Amino acid sequence: MKVTAKAPSNIAFIKYWGKRDEKLRIPENSSISMNLSRAFTITSVEFSNKFKSDSLFINGLKASVDETKRVSIHLDLIRSLSKINDFARVESRNNFPKASGIASSASGFAALTLAGAKAAGLSLSEKELTILARLGSGSACRSIPDGFVEWKMGRTGNDSYAHSLFAPQFWNICDLIAVVGKSSKKVSSSEGHAIAESSPFYKTRIVAMENKLKKIKLAMKNKDFTKFGEILEAEAINMHMVMMTSNPPLYYWLPETLKVMVKVMEWRNKGLESYFTIDAGPNVHVICRTKDVDRLTKRLRKLSGVRSVLVNTPALGARIIEVV
Ligand code: DP6
Repeated sequence: MKVTAKAPSNIAFIKYWGKRDEKLRIPENSSISMNLSRAFTITSVEFSNKFKSDSLFINGLKASVDETKRVSIHLDLIRSLSKINDFARVESRNNFPKASGIASSASGFAALTLAGAKAAGLSLSEKELTILARLGSGSACRSIPDGFVEWKMGRTGNDSYAHSLFAPQFWNICDLIAVVGKSSKKVSSSEGHAIAESSPFYKTRIVAMENKLKKIKLAMKNKDFTKFGEILEAEAINMHMVMMTSNPPLYYWLPETLKVMVKVMEWRNKGLESYFTIDAGPNVHVICRTKDVDRLTKRLRKLSGVRSVLVNTPALGARIIEVV
């Protein structure tokens, strides 16, 4: 049986940076995100006793040894849960170009988890699927449920899961991804998590988290865009300050990143309201109300250094799309 699943990428408003348990991927804090309509992965998984080893193809090309190994480790978890020993063939396609700098581990591991679990004959609840996806890549657990999602940090592993806070249609907001550079990150987010604690500001960040989470959830519930935007923008800067002050320091920004940030603030001061957030890469996610998408997209496209702008609406979570 070959099972194909589709999973969205997600953008975090409250970020996951730093792990309490590296192997189990238990985060130091809960996080909140939105699934993205224009950035997703489609993955098919087939287990068979014909296969001599696991194989992985990304966008039609054989994946690297490291990528295949990480996927194999995840397949081992699925095999041990379902008590099967067969190897698998995994084919994965991202709808966004590799050079766009949009991370694929969240959508990739969410789609792999869903397709792999079903292909292995498991029938897991959404909560169980998020726990399994988390073990592949932390942020992947947030790509399983629909719309606006919270990943509850938990303490032991089985209580570290994601759930939907609001359906996609709850709020007419968008994420305009201003693509300014290639991702080819020098330091992966997995390596970055491991040194987060070396920043003198990390403890301060974690201590303030509970309150921040409470405040942003309330702003979302009330659809208070200004409050919501102020919190998510300050949160992005907070995480990047930790990154830049860790040992060794991590600078994910390019000059163009800062240029977009400054423009977003300038336009906002003149009445066109949007807020930025940035992950472990140089691209800027501009969060705005749907009514302002056209004006902002036009302005972003005119900035030198912005290669493209991807307009994302809130999206459903991971789904099985084919079983053959
Ligand atoms: C900056 O989920 O990629 O995007 O669990 O090691 O695979 P691993 O890390 P990953 O980290 C994502 C970090 C982030 C913030 C976020 O998405 O919350």
